[in-house]
Amino acid sequence: MPVNHTPLRYPGGKSQLTPFVIELMRANDLLGGTYVEPFAGGAGVAWKLLFDGYASEVWINDIDPAIHAFWHCVLNRTDELCDKIATTDVTIEEWHRQRSLHSSASGQSLKLGFSTFFLNRTNRSGILKAGVIGGLAQAGDWKLDCRFKKQDLIDKIRRIALYKDQINLTRDDANRYLSSTVKKLPKQSLINIDPPYYKKGPELYCSFYEHEDHKSLAQTIRKLRRPWMLTYDDAPEIRALYAGLPTTTKRLTYYAQVKRTGVELLVLKPSLVTPEAAHVLAA
Ligand SMILES: C[S@@+](CC[C@H](N)C(=O)[O-])C[C@H]1O[C@@H](n2cnc3c(N)ncnc32)[C@H](O)[C@@H]1O
Repeated sequence: MPVNHTPLRYPGGKSQLTPFVIELMRANDLLGGTYVEPFAGGAGVAWKLLFDGYASEVWINDIDPAIHAFWHCVLNRTDELCDKIATTDVTIEEWHRQRSLHSSASGQSLKLGFSTFFLNRTNRSGILKAGVIGGLAQAGDWKLDCRFKKQDLIDKIRRIALYKDQINLTRDDANRYLSSTVKKLPKQSLINIDPPYYKKGPELYCSFYEHEDHKSLAQTIRKLRRPWMLTYDDAPEIRALYAGLPTTTKRLTYYAQVKRTGVELLVLKPSLVTPEAAHVLAA
């Protein structure tokens, strides 16, 4: 399994695309620039780019208050968050407690940030709406703490927090974010757009899109001036929305409860040189 720097488990997490993103940045002279994820989730690609200097700044945005609260705590309440991880027992009683805190907590509180993290690590496939790993009876081989390696997770959180000054965190609607905030980006930027899946979005995420939202996002993306890449599930409706733009597919392996492979659609801003084309030009 590839090294994953994010502490969040994410349905549709895209860490595996990191080598491709680095090559895309290299081919387009974007290395050392700003890297942006308007639908950040676990921000699977961002952290390696920052740690290894491929990006000088990372902008992450997610409309989900729970996800935003978690990242806010990582960056601004690092010690308290890590202490809570270290001292909280990962038991079914605690799972019930965190689940009820999660539905009542709000804002950028430690309560919401920590309960989001706790449920993300103990629920099936990291899905906040799903049930606990191993079921309420905890009768199977897999128990709820099997994805909760405390020290490893604390190390990941502390490492990200070290880069706090290079991280811009927001909680906006991605479409609005793309039309407004993104205008302030330096020229040397790459926007990696990973919207909720077309088909499975409602099952996987607390915030998801209807067809009209996907359509309106496509209109915004087509107008973007800065370099962008987009990944989606491969649905005919999505292919139709991005018709005429450079489109390819990528085979990804997902490690949730069961290892499986899936095909993702990748669309690029037409002016971008693909890594493959850059090799051909250089040869
Ligand atoms: C496919 S996931 C992103 C996964 C991410 N690329 C990763 O590697 O972990 C989509 C994310 O978009 C967020 N989201 C859904 N609707 C949104 C909206 N209108 N604006 C911003 N974020 C949104 C969801 O909360 C979810 O975290």
